[in-house]
Amino acid sequence: MKHYPVMLPEVLSSLSMADGETCVDGTFGNGGYSVAVLGSAACSVIGLDRDPNVAPRAKDLSAEWGDKFRLIQTPFSKMDELGLEGVDGVVLDIGVSSMQLDQAERGFSFMREGPLDMRMEQGGGPTARDAVMTLSVSELTRIFQVYGEEKRARHAANCIVSARDEAEIVTTADLASVVEQALGRRGKTHPATRIFQALRIFVNDELGELYRGLCAAERILTPGGRLVVVTFHSLEDRIVKSFFRRRAGEVIGGSRYAPEVVNDGPAASFSLPRRSVTKSSKTEIEENARSRSAKLRVAVRTQAEVFEADDRLLPDVMSLSELESRL
Ligand SMILES: C[S@@+](CC[C@H](N)C(=O)[O-])C[C@H]1O[C@@H](n2cnc3c(N)ncnc32)[C@H](O)[C@@H]1O
Repeated sequence: MKHYPVMLPEVLSSLSMADGETCVDGTFGNGGYSVAVLGSAACSVIGLDRDPNVAPRAKDLSAEWGDKFRLIQTPFSKMDELGLEGVDGVVLDIGVSSMQLDQAERGFSFMREGPLDMRMEQGGGPTARDAVMTLSVSELTRIFQVYGEEKRARHAANCIVSARDEAEIVTTADLASVVEQALGRRGKTHPATRIFQALRIFVNDELGELYRGLCAAERILTPGGRLVVVTFHSLEDRIVKSFFRRRAGEVIGGSRYAPEVVNDGPAASFSLPRRSVTKSSKTEIEENARSRSAKLRVAVRTQAEVFEADDRLLPDVMSLSELESRL
């Protein structure tokens, strides 16, 4: 399946690339944004993706655009370690691609039976199965509550821990069936939706990546450079919004998971355009239901020094390395 590039016209106008400029597409995926950016001006694009499966698509782009395009396989949180200079635009399209969801063997979807893996990098680090088979009830509960916003998180975690004592949970179908029995079917959404989302976010440290990616973009963007981020969950959007407001010199309030952060002084490293958040158009939502929850935020880099990293913007959930150390 091809990936539909969400809010493409809005992404292009927010990036507003000019001839001779350089853009980092931090979430290359199927290259939908990269191709459109390359067509929007005589500019260059550096695509990043942590998933090695995107390589053939990137090869097509290199064949067509020559040295105007190249792909680097890396998490976008490391974009400031690649020796890139003079970057005028960074775009991040957070989450998984349709291709990843569609491949049963990746284990992202409860609708396709496959190994319970979910690692975007397809290697290193714990899998979703490791998490489900190793973590305690309270650790799983916290992950489901925070990353899945699941109201019956503790019940789901209890049922998973009881089920794994009976038989190993190995596949997506095993987990989906345990969750379905635990939470029952109510309404249109499958009860496993939030649990799978939570595990995927945990296994890929998606919120940590997002926060560190924003900090890395702050380091590589030139003054006047645009940082454009498309998110799909309130959790992700909250991090982007808080980061932008903090960097723009605004005081931000506390939330359930993040304590209040008071701006104590450094000069604003980003300025926010008057309309800093945009949602998908009605027509786009009709064409692609996934765009329903999309939010695009943009900020423009100033001349000021980068801020010191401030991890307090992240929810307090156990780290992936903690699980890794127990395996
Ligand atoms: C929603 S898709 C992007 C689709 C792309 N905008 C397009 O138009 O085809 C997200 C992609 O970002 C990648 N990705 C997710 N998190 C990442 C990270 N932290 N670093 C690098 N790539 C990441 C995923 O592997 C996936 O291919």
